[in-house]
Amino acid sequence: MENLPLHVGIIMDGNGRWAVRRGLPRIEGHRKGAETTEKIVIAASNLGIKYLSLYAFSTENWKRPKEEVNFLFSLMYEYVRSKLDLFLENNVKFRTMGRVWELPDYLQEGFAWMEEQTAHCTGMTAIFAVNYGGRQEIIDAVNSILREGLDSIDQETFRHYLYIPELPDLDLLIRTSGELRISNFLLWQSAYTELWFTETLWPDFTEEEFRRALEDFSKRERRFGGIK
Ligand code: IPE
Ligand code: IPE
Ligand code: MG
Repeated sequence: MENLPLHVGIIMDGNGRWAVRRGLPRIEGHRKGAETTEKIVIAASNLGIKYLSLYAFSTENWKRPKEEVNFLFSLMYEYVRSKLDLFLENNVKFRTMGRVWELPDYLQEGFAWMEEQTAHCTGMTAIFAVNYGGRQEIIDAVNSILREGLDSIDQETFRHYLYIPELPDLDLLIRTSGELRISNFLLWQSAYTELWFTETLWPDFTEEEFRRALEDFSKRERRFGGIK
């Protein structure tokens, strides 16, 4: 495929509605959504995407019932504990992004373990945004800068203080489930991002639709404020 985005972000939304429409508890939607995540990680890696950022839990998602939040954490733990071989076979590096230090200890340990085990992988980097908020990321960066006593800063230096400094700007943002908003995802990195929305709920999202998003992206003319 030509003109592939270097960095794709996905707001994996619609798990709850998927379940409710089937008369199932919301958590069943999350379970099914995790399967989609697995498929799309492999598809993206096979297609040659270098960075895939997946919004898994926002800083605002703590507002949900405790049972749902705990279920999501245990699902993520299960995911990292069972997907190591898959990541290694596909040479995919696992990273997390967000206020991970506020998550339960067992989950932090699971994430740290998966990061270590895949640190040598040189293919795609799959970044799971967990307890992530774009504003919080900017505030955390500003606080690091203040602690270092800097009194002025430019964009390139600011970037070094973000959660993953080497993460390039977001080229393409996909959001499922028909919602047309950013919901606090990658605010700094999305200044010139191409947006792609679909009504499909995350558990129903397929590799085929992912390819369609990439094809649409490849035809867009990005001007970054200039003229062609
Ligand atoms: C996305 O699905 C997963 C998370 C936010 C963790 P939702 O749980 O938001 O599903 P809807 O939007 O309620 O359908
Ligand atoms: C965004 O989805 C966060 C994730 C997909 C993890 P939400 O379902 O939380 O977003 P809102 O509340 O509809 O904006
Ligand atoms: Mg939602």
